[in-house]
Amino acid sequence: MIAWLLEKIAFKVLESQNKALMMTRRQAIQQTVGAAATLAALGQVPSSFAAQPAASGPFQLPKLPYALDALEPHIDAKTMEIHHGKHHAAYIAQLNKAVIGKPALQGRTVEDLLLSLSSLPTDIQGAVRNHGGGHYNHSLFWQSMSRSGGGEPQGDLAAAIDKSFGSFASFRERFSEAALKQFGSGWAWLIWNGRQLEVRSLPNQDAALATGHTVLLGLDVWEHAYYLKYQNRRADYITAFFKVVDWGFVRDRFAHK
Ligand SMILES: [Fe+2]
Repeated sequence: MIAWLLEKIAFKVLESQNKALMMTRRQAIQQTVGAAATLAALGQVPSSFAAQPAASGPFQLPKLPYALDALEPHIDAKTMEIHHGKHHAAYIAQLNKAVIGKPALQGRTVEDLLLSLSSLPTDIQGAVRNHGGGHYNHSLFWQSMSRSGGGEPQGDLAAAIDKSFGSFASFRERFSEAALKQFGSGWAWLIWNGRQLEVRSLPNQDAALATGHTVLLGLDVWEHAYYLKYQNRRADYITAFFKVVDWGFVRDRFAHK
């Protein structure tokens, strides 16, 4: 609860900082174009998803691919509103702040920045790791859920899950355990390591992408992702997540690994 309140306070500060940054119409157009390139490079955002009105920098908040209440009752609308509109937006604001005065970095995608963290200026490596990771992870997260989600994967992905974990039930158990046991804030991940599927958990906003493997599915277990509806019942939130997972989306990423 304390961590959740501290997050809320921190994001209120970020909001006020972001409002103080003004921009010209020309900058807004340039940034919208930059955002589209970023999202396309992520390989995750269909072209019909327009970026929301430009923030102050090259990175933009992608629109949700569904209504705020689309995932009810499993993920509630208020959580979606705050999680997307405040938390994800704050990661983007801070990422934009990190690249101010660094034009060579402003044209690069967040994916590219995360994959080359160690070669970035040392004074922004932490910001890109945390806020760039937050932007990338959440962009993937929104798309991995759907009103018509749930059930089990089909086709090649189902076969790979059986081969790597024994069964879908076994995979689900391992993924859920990784999500449940992640101490503090972090994510549970399903990745393709080049040979087989693998479940991992990583702290904070560390991007599984930065491991160099193909990221297929991630579950946000920061308290901000579930506290309003589930309070301390993270296990119930994990169960709810499996009722909205868009396995078609995950399968498509697997097909393009
Ligand atoms: Fe989150």
